[in-house]
Amino acid sequence: MAPSYKIASIPGDGIGPEVVSATIQVVEKLAKTLGAFQIEFTHIPWGTAYYKETGRYLSEDALDTLRKFDAGIFGAVGAPDVPDHISLWGLLLAIRGPLQLYANVRPVRTFPGTKCPLNTATEGIDWMLVRENSEGEYSGQGGRSHVGQPWEAATEVAMFTRVGIERIMRFAFETARSRPRKLLTVVTKSNSMRNGMVLWDEVAASVAQDFPDVTWDKMLVDAMTVRMVTKPQSIDTIVGTNLHMDILSDLAAALAGSIGVAPSSNLDPTRKNPSLFEPVHGSAFDITGKGVANPVATFWSAAEMLKWIGEKNAADKLMTCVENVCAAGILTPDLGGTSSTQEVVDAVCVEIGKIK
Ligand code: NAI
Ligand code: MG
Repeated sequence: MAPSYKIASIPGDGIGPEVVSATIQVVEKLAKTLGAFQIEFTHIPWGTAYYKETGRYLSEDALDTLRKFDAGIFGAVGAPDVPDHISLWGLLLAIRGPLQLYANVRPVRTFPGTKCPLNTATEGIDWMLVRENSEGEYSGQGGRSHVGQPWEAATEVAMFTRVGIERIMRFAFETARSRPRKLLTVVTKSNSMRNGMVLWDEVAASVAQDFPDVTWDKMLVDAMTVRMVTKPQSIDTIVGTNLHMDILSDLAAALAGSIGVAPSSNLDPTRKNPSLFEPVHGSAFDITGKGVANPVATFWSAAEMLKWIGEKNAADKLMTCVENVCAAGILTPDLGGTSSTQEVVDAVCVEIGKIK
C-alpha cells in the first residue's frame, strides 16, 4: 500500500498563507500524479489573528498537536502592529527550542531565473548552510532592570552548551561528508568572544577527528562575509551559531539571487519530533495581499520536507518542475518577472502533469 503522510500546515501571517496555499496545491498535484504516496495537510490557524483572539500565538497543547504529524510546513510570522519579539518568541521560537529542532539547514544555490550578483564565472553559488537552532544568542537568557530610568539596563546572554555544540557540529560534518566536495567551514567569533566561541572551536577540533575525510577550516564571522562575496567558490558547507547563521544565510540568499527562493528546514535529526519546513523570508507586509509573493522558497522547502519523510524521488521531480518553470521565465516581480503567485502555481502544475 502507498505510504500516507500527515502534514501540519501553519500558514501564519502576511504572505505566509499565500505561499503555503500555493505549495499545498502543487504538492497535492504531485502526489496525485505520481500515485506513489498520499499526503494530507491539516490547517492550523496559529499566528497573529489567533493571538489577537486568544492572547496566545500557539494553542496550549501546541507541542502535542504537532507531534501527531509526520512534518510541518510553515509560512511566516510577524505583523506590523505586534512587536516582532512577541510574535517570533510566541510562535516560531516556541516550537524550535521545545521540539529540539536543533539543526536549521539552508541550501543556497543560484536558481534558474535568478541572477547571482557576484562575478562567479558561469557556475553561480552552491552552498549548504547549517545553523545551530536551539541555543546560543537566541537562548532567551537575560533581562531588563531599572525600566524607564535613565540608567535602564538590559542583558542578552548567549548560552552555548557542549551538548548543543557537539550535536550541531556532528550534523555539519556529516552534511559536508555527504556532499561531493567534503568541505566545511566553521564560523565563530572566538577572538572577541572568549568563552562560548572558544568552546565552539574546541568542540569543532575534537569532532573533526572523527571525520578525516572532511576538509575543514574556521573563520571569524566578519571575515566570512568578505569571503562569501570575494571567494564564493572556496565555500561549500558552513556551520555557525544561531545569530551568525541567521545573518549569513540572508546574505547567502541575496548573493545567490533572491530571498524569494531560499528554503529552510528545522530538523530534529533524532526524528523523535516532527521537523518543520519554511521559507527563509518573513511575512513581507509590503506585498501582502497583492498576489505576487514568490512561492518558490516554500516549494523548495516542501521538496526538502518530502526528502526528509522519505520521498526523495518526488522531491527531485518537484524541483525539476519548479526549475523548468523558472528557466522558462515564469517569474514573480522579485525576480524581475511579471507573473503572479497563482500563475507560477499553475505553470508548475502543468509541468507536473507532464511527468511520465
Ligand atoms: P521579509 O523577509 O518579510 O521581507 C524582506 C523583503 O523581501 C521585503 O521587501 C519583501 O517584500 C521581500 N520578500 C520576502 N519574501 C518574499 C517573497 N516570497 N516574494 C517576494 N518578495 C519577498 O523581512 P522583514 O521585512 O524584515 O520582516 C517582515 C516581518 O516578518 C517582521 O514581522 C519579521 O519579524 C517577520 N519575519 C519572520 C520570519 C519567519 O517567520 N521565519 C523571518 C523573517 C522575518
Ligand atoms: Mg532571519
